[in-house]
Amino acid sequence: MQIERILHSQGFGSRKDCRALIRAGRLSVNGEICDDPAAGFDPGSTDGTPGLEFSLDGELWQFRARAYLMLHKPAGYECSAKPVFHPSVFSLLPAQLLARGVQCVGRLDQDTTGLLLFSDDGQFIHRWSSGRKNIPKVYEATLKHPADERLIAQLLAGVVLHDDPVPVVAQACALPAPQCLHLTLCGGKYHQVKRMIAAASNRVEALHRSRIGGLELDPALPPGQWRWLEAADLARLEGC
Ligand code: URA
Repeated sequence: MQIERILHSQGFGSRKDCRALIRAGRLSVNGEICDDPAAGFDPGSTDGTPGLEFSLDGELWQFRARAYLMLHKPAGYECSAKPVFHPSVFSLLPAQLLARGVQCVGRLDQDTTGLLLFSDDGQFIHRWSSGRKNIPKVYEATLKHPADERLIAQLLAGVVLHDDPVPVVAQACALPAPQCLHLTLCGGKYHQVKRMIAAASNRVEALHRSRIGGLELDPALPPGQWRWLEAADLARLEGC
């Protein structure tokens, strides 16, 4: 594939922009400057795995036919490309990823922290979006009032939210400390955790998502940082 097309597919601008930056000598492939936009290379990947290595202005990149990533969402960011009150989670990603059209997989409230996935693969986004009923997600909620086994029993038995008479149940619940609740939910109604806990006469003071499917938020990823999902991460996601 022509290197100009490779760069374009990775979000480095229009074909014309990519041609210009290659001609300007800003690109190296396999350690050597490549200033011919028509030079052909094997991209080396047809999915989310890393392929051809290149560097642009000294920054190293690897070709990926599809983008799959995790972000450690900090509090105070909206999961929208057109945020209203807070900055967008998209402002935490590099321009190249935005240019290739990555979208977030489901949403977290602006004040919720934790694991948020992004991709430019429409089928993947559809499959893992939060409204889907068969995907467990683990949340860690800080409670306003100390709780005991009665809260766990209530959430496991199901609570009724105001927009649906059918009770919503937690798949699993644990209380490692009186004000720290770990909750596993399948499905993703609007403000589901906060509303379930309110329906059980308590209140969420802080909320963190630690897992989707079998994939944990990488403990080495600081708030506000993202990283690629590798094949092992995608396998873990499935393994729930
Ligand atoms: N449930 C909530 O209440 N908020 C979130 O951000 C996610 C789940």
